[in-house]
Amino acid sequence: MTGELSPIDKAKFVAAKRAAEFVEDGMRVGLGTGSTAAWLVRCLGEKVREEGMRFRGVPTSTRTAELAREVGIEVITLDEARWLDITIDGADEFDAELNLIKGGGGALLQEKIVATASDQMVVIADAAKEVGSLGAFPLPVEVIPFGWTASQALIEEALVSMDVMGRKTTLRMDGDKAYVTDEGNHILDLHLSRIGNPRELALVLNQVPGVVENGLFIDICDRVVIGYGDGRVETRDINAGTVEEETMDFVESDNLFRDV
Ligand code: A5P
Repeated sequence: MTGELSPIDKAKFVAAKRAAEFVEDGMRVGLGTGSTAAWLVRCLGEKVREEGMRFRGVPTSTRTAELAREVGIEVITLDEARWLDITIDGADEFDAELNLIKGGGGALLQEKIVATASDQMVVIADAAKEVGSLGAFPLPVEVIPFGWTASQALIEEALVSMDVMGRKTTLRMDGDKAYVTDEGNHILDLHLSRIGNPRELALVLNQVPGVVENGLFIDICDRVVIGYGDGRVETRDINAGTVEEETMDFVESDNLFRDV
């Protein structure tokens, strides 16, 4: 069955499978959004069904909530959980300091709230997500619908004094309508090419009226699990300064691929 998966999907899968091992009985777990996080949810669902593991999951989007329920995970809200032991999520880019760009899937607001309400955040990703400097992936910024064009103009003005290579901003679309997030907001994608000072940019963007949150995750991620298409995984822990490598087995997970 795994032969039907592309190398990139295999890479996402093995990263997710390795990270699923960080979840223990009784934990409160933040569940990310996106194609890599979907693998994680499937892996965790299998642990619930096959191993009788019990934990509660806080999804970061309606999509993830639906999938989590479907695979048998007990879903609770962040307000019910209050605090989380771990959050595991994908990313659009990560750098050597494990700063991230997130929000390609439109769920950055809930993702950032959930990740920062966790003892630790683990990012799962294929190797192509690693970059020298953040910014090639357009930076998502969530804005409220009221006066979004004014917010966009203010963002563009603020970008003039920032250390970035591009300044074009676009409203994310869903067909011929503006994309609407789970919180009822819109997303502006900032085409910056390279972000010289992500920390400064994150602070400046959040000062613009109408901006709810931006997709720069600075000092939030503790570990990254990088998957490769041949089953290898590399786990980097930024706090401990450690790097571990191992190889994951596809065979025992064949039943996970049947519905893909
Ligand atoms: C969702 O809003 C994003 O932050 C995702 O975590 C990110 O886009 C990674 O998605 P993939 O795992 O699908 O690449």
